[in-house]
Amino acid sequence: MSQLWRKTWRSLHTGWCWPPAVPTFTPCLQVLLPAAGLLQLQDVKKTCCEFLESQLHPVNCLGIRAFADMHACTDLLNKANTYAEQHFADVVLSEEFLNLGIEQVCSLISSDKLTISSEEKVFEAVIAWVSHDKDVRQEFMARLMEHVRLPLLPREYLVQRVEEEALVKNSSACKDYLIEAMKYHLLPTEQRVLMKSVRTRLRTPMNLPKLMVVVGGQAPKAIRSVECYDFKEERWHQVAELPSRRCRAGMVYMAGLVFAVGGFNGSLRVRTVDSYDPVKDQWTSVANMRDRRSTLGAAVLNGLLYAVGGFDGSTGLSSVEAYNIKSNEWFHVAPMNTRRSSVGVGVVGGLLYAVGGYDGASRQCLSTVECYNATANEWTYIAEMGTRRSGAGVGVLNNLLYAVGGHDGPLVRKSVEVYDPTTNTWRQVADMNMCRRNAGVTVIDKPL
Ligand SMILES: *[C@@H]1O[C@H](CO)[C@@H](O)[C@H](O)[C@H]1NC(C)=O
Ligand SMILES: *[C@@H]1O[C@H](CO)[C@@H](O)[C@H](O)[C@H]1NC(C)=O
Ligand SMILES: *[C@@H]1O[C@H](CO)[C@@H](O)[C@H](O)[C@H]1NC(C)=O
Repeated sequence: MSQLWRKTWRSLHTGWCWPPAVPTFTPCLQVLLPAAGLLQLQDVKKTCCEFLESQLHPVNCLGIRAFADMHACTDLLNKANTYAEQHFADVVLSEEFLNLGIEQVCSLISSDKLTISSEEKVFEAVIAWVSHDKDVRQEFMARLMEHVRLPLLPREYLVQRVEEEALVKNSSACKDYLIEAMKYHLLPTEQRVLMKSVRTRLRTPMNLPKLMVVVGGQAPKAIRSVECYDFKEERWHQVAELPSRRCRAGMVYMAGLVFAVGGFNGSLRVRTVDSYDPVKDQWTSVANMRDRRSTLGAAVLNGLLYAVGGFDGSTGLSSVEAYNIKSNEWFHVAPMNTRRSSVGVGVVGGLLYAVGGYDGASRQCLSTVECYNATANEWTYIAEMGTRRSGAGVGVLNNLLYAVGGHDGPLVRKSVEVYDPTTNTWRQVADMNMCRRNAGVTVIDKPL
């Protein structure tokens, strides 16, 4: 069926409505795809959408996007939208862009995902779109400039280009945006982050370098502040605050969201969980855990978020629970064999490991380690570490699990040992330079 359709399709449009050199979006589809929906020819519709997807180009992606929207082709709509965001600089040169309606322009330029070398591209796109039909469109200048992140532009550009632009001069609202940008440049860096404007926020396209997020902590009591570090710009950005104070929380990144799980709010160990959407710069509280816990281990295994052990204010916990993002529900899974607060966790080879910690009952720092098989819903002891470690950092590299530092009573360690699941053995590797407990550990790409 698909093959046949493709052939038919080709013969239909060859030399008629689809010049192969520059694939422009054309009316022939507008007849065929609606007909396919009408006749319930899902296969035809699917093939048609796949074909359009393969034809995405800066000159036609906006047309295809509008078309997919009209015909409820969700997948194609998302693909075309992402394509337009990723090829923004070329897309804005197209006839289709100049012919967009005001709502669609706003929607496109307000996206956090635009891939652009500089915010200049967005400003110039706005001016080009308005100038295309100036008499009618200049009244939209303020609505458009709301989405242009002027503060991110160099001050020379603001003074020499933006301020000199007649369309900006003629709108007091636009001048206010310009003043906002000037103010941003005048403020010392540490005060800039306090400006609560969407226009001071960097766009975050898919292929840009990663950010590091730091959530809550103690100063001296639990705080709500959250900051993001931009490695490229070498600066910290204050982002939306946690809905409630939190330190000693578990943290994971899952499905594009940061989860802050449990912790201590300054007076109580909490069962609350907040999730951060970096695109919206917004925290949302999700379902509470069943147990209060701080100094827990948090990890993602098979698409579920696990909260492992921790401390509820009076005892160390052996309980473990998992969160399903789709149903927004926490449920208990099999408990560990040991109570473990200040436990380190890591995932290797589809198994979740709980490393050391502190057993509140016998007042012992632990050298034992156990691992969780989700299919069997079972915790099993594996080989013990060579030393007791509570508050060990856990890192996973090349299918090996590293236990870094930690303490045994007053003795804080600089030693590191590594576990190989294929041999069920721990072996000591080089010491760190410093003793440390409750350290954060992660693996990054080595810079070239
Ligand atoms: C300024 O904008 C108004 C409408 O917003 C328009 O009538 C007028 O012609 C514009 N002036 C210039 C110099 O562009
Ligand atoms: C900690 O959480 C409890 C229970 O939710 C709440 O009553 C208390 O006010 C919170 N304490 C602080 C300092 O936020
Ligand atoms: C987990 O347990 C299941 C069922 O007992 C077993 O088939 C599977 O091999 C185990 N997975 C690992 C990684 O050991």
